[in-house]
Amino acid sequence: MLNLVFLGPPGAGKGTQAHRLAQRFAIPQLSTGDILRRAVAEGSPLGKQAKALMDAGKLVPDEVVNAIVDEALARPEARRGFLLDGYPRTVAQATALDEMLARRGRKLDYVVSLDVPVEVLVDRLSGRLTCPKDGSTYHPRTNPPKRPGLCDSDSTPLVQRPDDRPEAVRRRLAEYQNKTALLTDYYKPRGVLRTIEGVGTPEDVEGRIVSALRDNLTAGPANP
Ligand code: AP5
Ligand code: MG
Repeated sequence: MLNLVFLGPPGAGKGTQAHRLAQRFAIPQLSTGDILRRAVAEGSPLGKQAKALMDAGKLVPDEVVNAIVDEALARPEARRGFLLDGYPRTVAQATALDEMLARRGRKLDYVVSLDVPVEVLVDRLSGRLTCPKDGSTYHPRTNPPKRPGLCDSDSTPLVQRPDDRPEAVRRRLAEYQNKTALLTDYYKPRGVLRTIEGVGTPEDVEGRIVSALRDNLTAGPANP
């Protein structure tokens, strides 16, 4: 069982790494951003509520995302563990997650915080291509798909996310600084936080994450 949260600013590689680790450990990637984007694409009531906020780079209300995660954690496939990607993002969400896990007799094993300089984030987001179907992401220079413009898994044409426009990226970075960055202080005292350098190839970053998890399994709590 592995219960893990990915923290990090927009473009840090949360989705990229959650996708890789989900395959490695055979546990689901629970991405609130992907779930919300699917709701927007379907035009559901949730999608209609979230669309304008997301396109502008603002956070969706806590109670909306808390309900999404509570439902995702209740699914049978999450029983063996999960990789939360993009949640929690506020202290209120972090306390809600604690409550949801306590109710199920579970707890977080790790919070992996990906550290990437802001100029690299902006470069990654401005070039990012996303599969609207499975949420996987690519970058023409640093992480190209096998066939240009098409998703590796299902050949769906790749698109640019509306919130990857420069003004929305600026707003997302500000939201992260103002509301999410302080979650490292929330998790640090619990000994679950692992801060990982997120620059390098996706393989390099994955290797660092896996060895940080493994170090802990052999060496006990670390990285105060
Ligand atoms: P969300 O979808 O979570 O977006 P985000 O946090 O802004 O993060 P991104 O998905 O942009 O980046 P990422 O870290 O996943 O990076 P990626 O792996 O794609 O949220 C979107 C919106 O939904 C929010 O703004 C909000 O409105 C709403 N929302 C979602 N969750 C919410 C919540 N909990 N509360 C409230 N609102 C919420 O990588 C980026 C690019 O870099 C890609 O092109 C990738 O191929 C490339 N790349 C990745 N790793 C590397 C590497 N090592 N080297 C080179 N390139 C790399
Ligand atoms: Mg993502």
